[in-house]
Amino acid sequence: MPFFALIPAAGAGSRLGGETPKQYLPLAGRPMIHHALQLLCGSPRIARVCVVLSPGDTEWERHDWSAFSSRLAVLECGGATRAESVLNGLRAARQAFAINDDDWILVHDAARPCLAAAQLDRLLDELADDAVGGLLAVPVADTLKRGGSGGRVAHTESREDLWQAQTPQMFRYARLVEALCRAGGTAMTDDAGAIEALGLHPRLVPGDPFNLKVTYPQDLALAELILAGRRATWRKNSG
Ligand code: C5P
Repeated sequence: MPFFALIPAAGAGSRLGGETPKQYLPLAGRPMIHHALQLLCGSPRIARVCVVLSPGDTEWERHDWSAFSSRLAVLECGGATRAESVLNGLRAARQAFAINDDDWILVHDAARPCLAAAQLDRLLDELADDAVGGLLAVPVADTLKRGGSGGRVAHTESREDLWQAQTPQMFRYARLVEALCRAGGTAMTDDAGAIEALGLHPRLVPGDPFNLKVTYPQDLALAELILAGRRATWRKNSG
């Protein structure tokens, strides 16, 4: 069954501050989104990678993406929310490529530049025959406090069975479109949430905390360190 990847990249990333949308902020010498594209376009298991841009995007064309051109499709149909961008992207992708109802779609945030190839392969291996699909996720390690009034703790939440959802999240094309259509204007922050609203239970595939989402300025520094560490290991291993 073919795998297609879709990267919603139509957000403004306002929590990072600044004018440049976060997917284009410089990270390890490249725009942030370059790292996710490199991994997904470099996987021989993924047939096509579609990136969803905001229709008003003026930044994409300022960079050189020619290294990915044989695998990459650019869809300028982002929406007001992440869910809308994914849904618009899925519809446009089907017009551009022969995607079947049962083909797998991997949705991956442009803001997760540190996804490792081994994690991607694990997700594909574990879910390829799954009836529903699922996502990379990590068990919550910290003790969780519910905030109350006056900046004080209202109570401690149990962390048992709690996971932090990551991307990629992987579902079959037609079911994902149906789920996102039904979710409509609701504030779904990931694709699995829309699938859950259909009464289905996505599989949790243990991921790794390095696959962080860059949201705040400190995350950029962490991502830089993770990518530098990987480059150093790669250089050491390749002699
Ligand atoms: O803002 P946040 O980090 O939750 O965004 C997650 C991903 O969704 C990012 O890759 C961002 O570009 C994308 N997004 C989008 N369309 C929006 C909002 C966010 O494609 N309207």
